[in-house]
Amino acid sequence: MVDLTGMRALVTGASSGIGAAIARDLAARGVHLVLTARRKDQLTAIAAECAAMGVTAQVVPADLGTPGATEALWTAATADGPIDLCINNAGFGYFRPFGEVEAERDAELVQLNITAVMELSRRFLVARKGATGRAFLLNIASIGAYQAVPNMALYTASKVFVRNFTEALHDELRGTPASATCVCPGGTRTEFHAQAGAGNYSWIANASMMSAEQCARSAVRAMLAGRRTYIPGLINKLSCFGVRLVPRWFASWMARRVLGKPRPGALPQRSAA
Ligand SMILES: NC(=O)c1ccc[n+]([C@@H]2O[C@H](COP(=O)([O-])OP(=O)(O)OC[C@H]3O[C@@H](n4cnc5c(N)ncnc54)[C@H](OP(=O)(O)O)[C@@H]3O)[C@@H](O)[C@H]2O)c1
Repeated sequence: MVDLTGMRALVTGASSGIGAAIARDLAARGVHLVLTARRKDQLTAIAAECAAMGVTAQVVPADLGTPGATEALWTAATADGPIDLCINNAGFGYFRPFGEVEAERDAELVQLNITAVMELSRRFLVARKGATGRAFLLNIASIGAYQAVPNMALYTASKVFVRNFTEALHDELRGTPASATCVCPGGTRTEFHAQAGAGNYSWIANASMMSAEQCARSAVRAMLAGRRTYIPGLINKLSCFGVRLVPRWFASWMARRVLGKPRPGALPQRSAA
């Protein structure tokens, strides 16, 4: 396994869930961190936990759902030195029929899940061009990237982008000191589900749920091993393999059954509060 001691990582969506767990995992490996998300208090608490492991942990609050936000983030993140690991983890979805939520939420989803991933990947890879040291790009997609998912149409389409984009980058980077890895988690116990207005899942969805720590550990391992794509968890792997063997309409029908109905009531506000 690569020795990461003294390297510097940017982790987006580090205020909770998988991003916070990735930050802790990297801190334990001696990686200095730049942590970003909207909620400054949560970020500061996670940065303090990481700093207690003997690394520096800089907090840069940013709303990556806003056009142009990656520029100021990247400038702040690289002020004290180059970034060696770029972890594009921030993302959100909603579990409602398309068109039933406000258009601003769709625009933020596209900005955060697609545009910010593209912009930060670009800034990172352009900055690393010609450098001789190892560099790692890790983009978090979803098993939803493998099939259509009713009630998550836009979210899963955004993850199709992340998967295809990152796999292509992986192949472009072959033979260079940089690598790009796409990790496709299945259900993971985080704030994601409450934020999405989801959670009335079938037994099979609940049985395959993993912790954010398990997901983060395998994501970091896959990145360090230079994997192209990695799906954490056996049931998730089988599901992504299985959809290749059935008609696409059947996979979509099955997803509707596995994920159940949207939770009634209004979706949580898209604010950092
Ligand atoms: N949990 C699952 O079942 C699951 C399954 C497949 C894929 N994933 C993917 O895993 C990634 C992490 O999600 P999670 O499960 O850990 O959920 P989470 O706990 O809700 O974390 C999402 C992170 O994204 C940040 N974020 C949200 N909106 C943002 C914005 N506008 N600007 C900047 N940061 C923003 C959040 O921070 P703030 O709210 O502080 O901004 C938070 O740190 C996402 O890309 C998600 O799509 C999750």
